[in-house]
Amino acid sequence: MKISIIGGGGLVGSCAAYALQCGGIFSEIALLDVNQELAVGQALDLQHGGPSVADQRIVGGGYEHIASSDIVCITAGLRRKPDESRLDLINRNTDLFVSILNDVQRGGLRRDAIVLVVSNPVDILTYVAADRLGLPSEQVLGLGTQLDTIRFCSLIAERMQAPPTQTRALILGEHGDSMVPIWSSATIGGLPLDKFPGWNPSLAGELFTRTRGSGAEVIKRKGGAGFAVGIAIRDVVEAIALDRRSVLPVSTVQSGCYGIRDVALSVPTVVGRQGAVDRLEIDLWPKEVQGLRASGGALQKTLATVLQRVG
Ligand code: 2OP
Repeated sequence: MKISIIGGGGLVGSCAAYALQCGGIFSEIALLDVNQELAVGQALDLQHGGPSVADQRIVGGGYEHIASSDIVCITAGLRRKPDESRLDLINRNTDLFVSILNDVQRGGLRRDAIVLVVSNPVDILTYVAADRLGLPSEQVLGLGTQLDTIRFCSLIAERMQAPPTQTRALILGEHGDSMVPIWSSATIGGLPLDKFPGWNPSLAGELFTRTRGSGAEVIKRKGGAGFAVGIAIRDVVEAIALDRRSVLPVSTVQSGCYGIRDVALSVPTVVGRQGAVDRLEIDLWPKEVQGLRASGGALQKTLATVLQRVG
């Protein structure tokens, strides 16, 4: 199976490529970047590690790789400034993103390909991609709150001195300021978090606030996230490649789940080889559903202005 990573020369794209190389599932990983020299350099550096990882072809190049790709991952885009919200970024990134979509179509995007949008603001750009690429909407996914979810789990695990791999807590809605913590189903080792030794409800606010601010915190400390984003991309892309039907909080254009439609955001989604195979409207606390709908409303406002711009 082959994946093309657009923006593969950059931090997010190259971290995603490294995570996928270590997973050993893809037979070919193509790094595409406007800076082709950088993409070729990243690919060469990855290729050098190949003998100790897996038998894969890892290349740098251009849109000639699109027609033979099963999955196209779009990470290209300008990064936020520490005090800039993801939605502020929209104008700067929309025009660039639309030109990338045009290049992807000209490159011969296959009708059965799956597109994963990572560029920010990811929910808005996921909607734009689904609107313009002409693929069935279930084949266009956004990384959504999968990154926020693993950040959330990591911070809860650290605070509770629990194994991160056994800590499960969802973030849904916008990958952005209106994201929603889902405490109702949070568990450690399959046991309800709110009954776990050491848990105190006063921890909830602190943990969620830090999770929501994690993107800006990493930008401030090191200029931008890469490693965890790469892992989050790997989680989604390998679920597609292996038809795992994993339940993941990824962004797709909604058509009624929790009463939300005509906007892309993250709800529990079954991810397999065909993309978003199903959406699961699991029981949430009333305030969690309200938060999710408010997130949809916030995104719809911005989406309306963007669609006016891009037509
Ligand atoms: C983040 O939250 C890049 O939006 C991504 O770090």
